Amino acid sequence: MAQVKVQAIASMLQSKDTIPPEFVRMEDEQPGATTYRGPAPAVPVIDLADTDRVVDAIAEASREWGIFQLVNHGIPAAVIGELQRVGREFFQLSQEEKEAYAADPRSGSIEGYGTQIQKDPHGKKAWGDYLFHNLWPPSRINHGMWPRQPSSYREANEVYTKYLLGILDKILDSLSLGLGLERSALKKALGGEEMDMLLKVNYYPPCPRPDLALGVVAHSDLSAVTILVPNDVPGLQISKDDRWIDLDYVPGALIIHIGDQIEILSNGKYKSVLHRATVNKERVRISWPVFCSPPPEMMVGPLPQFVTDQNPAKYKTKKYKDYQYCKLNKLPQ
Ligand code: OGA
Ligand code: NI
Repeated sequence: MAQVKVQAIASMLQSKDTIPPEFVRMEDEQPGATTYRGPAPAVPVIDLADTDRVVDAIAEASREWGIFQLVNHGIPAAVIGELQRVGREFFQLSQEEKEAYAADPRSGSIEGYGTQIQKDPHGKKAWGDYLFHNLWPPSRINHGMWPRQPSSYREANEVYTKYLLGILDKILDSLSLGLGLERSALKKALGGEEMDMLLKVNYYPPCPRPDLALGVVAHSDLSAVTILVPNDVPGLQISKDDRWIDLDYVPGALIIHIGDQIEILSNGKYKSVLHRATVNKERVRISWPVFCSPPPEMMVGPLPQFVTDQNPAKYKTKKYKDYQYCKLNKLPQ
């Protein structure tokens, strides 16, 4: 039987101020109780066109924050607007039409339409549905998992991917130079042209109790880098100095997360960011993260330049798919 989606639950709610108990987080996770409201420094906003400063700015943000917002990135607003439009229209299809793309856990693939299911010790659920599909490389794309409606879905995603490949290169170049490495070092260590790009469209329906529920629970991304487009409904929070703080909505910006694989390769010099998503009482929140990762068979571990007797390896060297298996099953790495 298909999983019941949060979008369907939200549309059937009788009450404007209660949610089913399985969506009420434990108190130490509830955004109402745990969001820091005092003055806090803002996540860095970096101008990708400022060639004199961009390497230092990206390196510093990745050491101190593990996240930054990128402006002047060169992706036309119309391209991002189309990506958003076709994703939003997919979620406006009928439940039955969407279920044609339902993720099949038995397939061994994460791709498809589903609802947030994390193994949770208290049996709690998150307030959000999603669609996952690969964008790159072409050999790993399964067009059967790309919506056929709206009819421009495919083109919008292909055009966005083309721009994203260029942005990913620029980010990895800066991260390499910021570590004193050759420009192409990190990209090579992540599989070069074989790097995977996986799109997730997160759909968070309005929630009567945004103070009690979470759209995505606290985690760091397993990817090397995640490039996220939000809609204009804020909700992403990061943990900084043990406080949960909101990201500002910067119109047109891409939100870049440093993921676990960059932390591992740099032996901890760059930090993957702990983050979570909150939801909104009145408005639908949608986000489009693209997880950029090494291919499954790639060996990943701290680069030899960063391992010395004084500074031993903090992480194992193993295949990316083994890192993935442990993370998905909440096993020690
Ligand atoms: C994720 C995630 C945050 C957001 O899907 O991994 O962290 O802003 N999403 O939706
Ligand atoms: Ni994430």
